[in-house]
Amino acid sequence: MKKNWFEEKIDMFSSIGGYQKPEFLQDAVKLDSNENYVIPKQFQNDIIAAARKNSDVREYPLGGVERLIQMISKFTKIPASMIGVGNGSDQILDLILSNFATKTTKVLTSNPTFGFFEERCKLYSIPLIAIPFSNEMKLDIKDFQKESSNADILYLDSPNNPTGFQFSKNELQKLVKSFNGLVIIDEAYGEFGDYSIANMVKTHENLIVVQTLSKSFGLAGLRLGYFVANKKFTNVFMNVLQYPYPLSTITIESGILALQKSKSMKDSVNQIKIERKRIIENLKKYDDFEVFDSKANFVLFDAKGAYKRIYSALAEQGISIRNLGKIGKNTGCLRVTIGTKEMNSKFLLAIRDLLG
Ligand SMILES: Cc1ncc(COP(=O)(O)O)c(C=O)c1O
Repeated sequence: MKKNWFEEKIDMFSSIGGYQKPEFLQDAVKLDSNENYVIPKQFQNDIIAAARKNSDVREYPLGGVERLIQMISKFTKIPASMIGVGNGSDQILDLILSNFATKTTKVLTSNPTFGFFEERCKLYSIPLIAIPFSNEMKLDIKDFQKESSNADILYLDSPNNPTGFQFSKNELQKLVKSFNGLVIIDEAYGEFGDYSIANMVKTHENLIVVQTLSKSFGLAGLRLGYFVANKKFTNVFMNVLQYPYPLSTITIESGILALQKSKSMKDSVNQIKIERKRIIENLKKYDDFEVFDSKANFVLFDAKGAYKRIYSALAEQGISIRNLGKIGKNTGCLRVTIGTKEMNSKFLLAIRDLLG
């Protein structure tokens, strides 16, 4: 029997994989999702307890987003009229793609790029021009400049997930300045990197810089992302495209309090950078591994033929990392999030027991 349009649509969506979440392991040493366990649990407990006191969830959070935006403005030193928010930066990226891109809009990005972004492009049949990373997991700005005139949107995560690569500030600024279409720079890991280009939105109308409290603030479960961009886009995004109440009252109030306590975030970022160096140096001791430098809160390494064995053995011991397999010529890529000192030591000891 001929399928109706609804069934055909379901079949079409079924053929798209969707974003692959990591496997759920009970009580795992969770080093698979670039979360931040270094920021003390007390930080979260304090802000959520205070947020509860300030909240009445019988009401819609009228005016809440506006107060949160004022706080983000103070934190970023960018005018409130140039700031918008979303249910995680995922939702911001999704709303931009679903409303501004079509099947003929070409998106220039890297390969690999942020997995969710790529999946969303697949969902909307948006074609990608994807510039591959070199064997050393680096990008060449010239490859992007060559393709710039063929593309409508430039999307780069800076630093990149999963490689940890970040262009020099000078190079990225040059690329943004020379691109004529819409530029989306995803700074989900910006605090762990060398710089932010958020200030460029004050002079570049075609630039949107997306940021989040999921990573550096350790608030992935709150689902709070934001962007900075020109006033007109921000106004349309917040008043036409975005839902009337995109964030819960608890998220809004907790977000305001977290931003007031940004010193805790900065301390944890410093700690993570120290541990990142330790993990990279330790992994480099294994001749069989190729370890890539990182400007984010994770490290990518190629464990070559041993990667499946390492991934499974770690999982059996309750240590969850991300199995990425082949990236270009690197065939056994694994990505490990930088956790607390204790979590990282567990990971490094397990690797030593397996290979030492
Ligand atoms: C590059 C990049 N952008 C955005 C996100 C999504 O962050 P959020 O939790 O704000 O949706 C992630 C999360 O892994 C990411 O890696």
